[in-house]
Amino acid sequence: MTANMQSLDEYWMPFTANRAFKKNPRLFASAEGMYYQTTEGKKILDGCAGLWCVNAGHGQKKINDAIKFQVDQMTYSPAFQGGHLGAFEFAERLTELFSGDLNHVFFTNSGSESADTSLKLARAYFKARGNPEKVKLIGRDKGYHGVNFGGLSVGGIPMARKVYGPFLQDVHHIPHTHDMARNAFSKGQPEYGIELADRLLEIIDLHGSDTIAAVIVEPMAGSAGVVVPPKGYLERLRKITKENDILLIFDEVITAFGRTGDISTAALLGIEPDMINTAKGLTNGAVPMGAVLASDEIQKTIMQGPPDVIELFHGYTYSGHPLACAAGIATMEVYKEQDLFARAAAMAPYLEKAVHSLSRHDVVQDIRNFGMVAAVDLKPREGAPTARSFETYLEAFERGVLVRTTGDIIALSPPLIVDEKQIDTIINTLDDILSSLK
Ligand SMILES: Cc1ncc(COP(=O)(O)O)c(C=O)c1O
Repeated sequence: MTANMQSLDEYWMPFTANRAFKKNPRLFASAEGMYYQTTEGKKILDGCAGLWCVNAGHGQKKINDAIKFQVDQMTYSPAFQGGHLGAFEFAERLTELFSGDLNHVFFTNSGSESADTSLKLARAYFKARGNPEKVKLIGRDKGYHGVNFGGLSVGGIPMARKVYGPFLQDVHHIPHTHDMARNAFSKGQPEYGIELADRLLEIIDLHGSDTIAAVIVEPMAGSAGVVVPPKGYLERLRKITKENDILLIFDEVITAFGRTGDISTAALLGIEPDMINTAKGLTNGAVPMGAVLASDEIQKTIMQGPPDVIELFHGYTYSGHPLACAAGIATMEVYKEQDLFARAAAMAPYLEKAVHSLSRHDVVQDIRNFGMVAAVDLKPREGAPTARSFETYLEAFERGVLVRTTGDIIALSPPLIVDEKQIDTIINTLDDILSSLK
């Protein structure tokens, strides 16, 4: 804290128990590699890549240098009817990296904006194609697509729905795939649940595919507590959407850029969605940015009308921000030079084995993992749901390890540079805490 700072009250913190936090603040001052340092000089091992975004670890020199260089060149250029080379270069690089025909990039500033952008693109596509009645959007229970109204409407996190509704009309949900009775303690993709994709057929039967624009899902639902897709489920969703002329949007805000062992989970599984939403690891969290990758078909169809008239009435002042593009280009180079996606794929079995050792604790009701993501699902304490996980979070922080919790679930998603010893430290710390957790 600076000497003249009197209070922490003015800053209204996001997704935080503000009053409790301000009584006992956890303030980060610097970060390097796998570690944060607090304002009190305490070293904290980062078990969750900041917030699922610092995939290449903290303080990557190449990214920092690229941002510093860009600061001296130009910190802003108008995004509408103007441009700068960095945005074109970054878009081209991304389309080379992502598989399929996702050859067009719309830049946003966050995962939430990527969600709303992709939903708007879906409707704009069908309007431009001459199917204005194809407007319905299908999300999934437990889905999380950020905090804006489009993403909230297709999302399925009950707390958000309770507070902010009513949402967009013409939205329906397919069931989530979290099935502890059949899949508890699965390693990697669970066996059971492919048939849940067929619930989309019921919605299509009821409403008609000629009214439906898009289905949006996270390949792996992170915020809902790490729900790993059952084997074959995403492939079946792709088949059904394709056969019924419905766009499929993968929200890969946390699963892209190596988290599941490849550039995207779509690439990992050999699935070609019509759009992929990204953010977070896009710039290694260094500068806020998101991007929607859209197929040739979507972009080509929208590029209609007189050439001097704006084709898509959408954009953000900071779309393709120069500092974000500089950070993003450097981030892609770091991923490649340090071979971080392959490293993630190679390290995933170690994380899997380590995290499943925690199944010996009575308080643990499930453990899930996928690539470099793992979740320890705790039995809720009677009368005090989420207390166990939050106490674990606080105690782990005390002991120098940062984890993330959602509900009663402890989620782990360390930077992809993590080594075996650091995984051991994270797991041993949790092991110790769970041994005495009431
Ligand atoms: C799948 C998914 N979509 C969207 C978002 C929202 O991203 P942001 O917080 O950058 O708006 C998140 C955030 O965790 C996410 O996990």
